[in-house]
Amino acid sequence: MRIIITGGTGLIGRALIRWLSPAGHEIIVLSRHPGRANLPHAALPVFWDGINVGDWARLVDGADVVVNLAGENIAGTGAIPAQWTKARKRRILESRVNATNVLVSAMAQAQTKPKVLVQGSAVGYYGGRLDDVVLDESAPPGDDFLADVVVHWEAASKPVEEMGVRLAIARTGLVLSATGGSLPRTLTPFKFFLGGPLGHGRQWWPWIHIRDEVRALAFLMMEERASGPFNLTAPNPVTNREFALILGKVMGRPAFLSAPAFALRAGLGEMADLLLKGQRVVPKRLLELGFQFEFPDLEPALRDLL
Ligand SMILES: NC(=O)c1ccc[n+]([C@@H]2O[C@H](COP(=O)([O-])OP(=O)(O)OC[C@H]3O[C@@H](n4cnc5c(N)ncnc54)[C@H](OP(=O)(O)O)[C@@H]3O)[C@@H](O)[C@H]2O)c1
Repeated sequence: MRIIITGGTGLIGRALIRWLSPAGHEIIVLSRHPGRANLPHAALPVFWDGINVGDWARLVDGADVVVNLAGENIAGTGAIPAQWTKARKRRILESRVNATNVLVSAMAQAQTKPKVLVQGSAVGYYGGRLDDVVLDESAPPGDDFLADVVVHWEAASKPVEEMGVRLAIARTGLVLSATGGSLPRTLTPFKFFLGGPLGHGRQWWPWIHIRDEVRALAFLMMEERASGPFNLTAPNPVTNREFALILGKVMGRPAFLSAPAFALRAGLGEMADLLLKGQRVVPKRLLELGFQFEFPDLEPALRDLL
């Protein structure tokens, strides 16, 4: 199969390429910096700018699968999360919507359309919340900045359905990986015996092990009954307090020093909501289609990663 991946140089994309590689697919990664991509050798990096249809579009013609993961990192790529300045907020939104629009245009021009678009999305769709309401894919969108981004991001992918392309939307939770994303940052205070919940710790954290994330993406590619939104989160989400306790246990470190909400807000501004609010999301539609999680519970997932 020919598989096109945008954002394939990122945390999830690289893991997905490694997962798909043994099957011998032709994997093409659309990247703004193909020369620097340093991808697993099964993948071919090809230049795109995420804004304009270019030469890359001929590779979309006749491709079997397109996976759209491109987008400015929500928390920034440094050791400390980056504030949501006005300019960063614009990049977070526009990078996703522009990349999706241009991909959809390339698919519209293709004589032989891909069979499926696996569209990146996030549980941020449901908004940052402090309640215990269980959210499946039928829950309505929230009304904060990230929810607005996700609603526009998903909406930009919808035209492919009219082209007869199956659209599976991957509403991903907090991806746990030892090599990137939020987990390495979360570990730091624990390493120094300073770990604990963030704020009151009652906010839900809908986590997923990176291996289940890529297994679920591959499942959405191959499973012909899979269309519409899917929550990519472990079936057993935990509150932030439980997350801290289990992480402390796995690391053999205390987990009772809570980081005060006011300090996080002072340091991170609006972005602190990403940590201080959450969503109790469950993967109802994946389970209905028979997807089996390798890591449904947090403690074995963290033991595997750490
Ligand atoms: N990791 C998580 O916990 C998580 C949770 C929920 C949702 N998601 C979503 O899933 C997608 C992949 O996540 P990830 O963690 O793998 O992200 P990542 O590591 O930040 O990688 C995203 C990729 O998108 C491309 N990109 C960045 N800025 C861009 C821009 N301005 N225009 C076009 N492309 C740009 C980059 O590729 P090039 O530099 O090669 O162009 C980058 O490698 C993201 O859209 C993210 O929002 C992730």
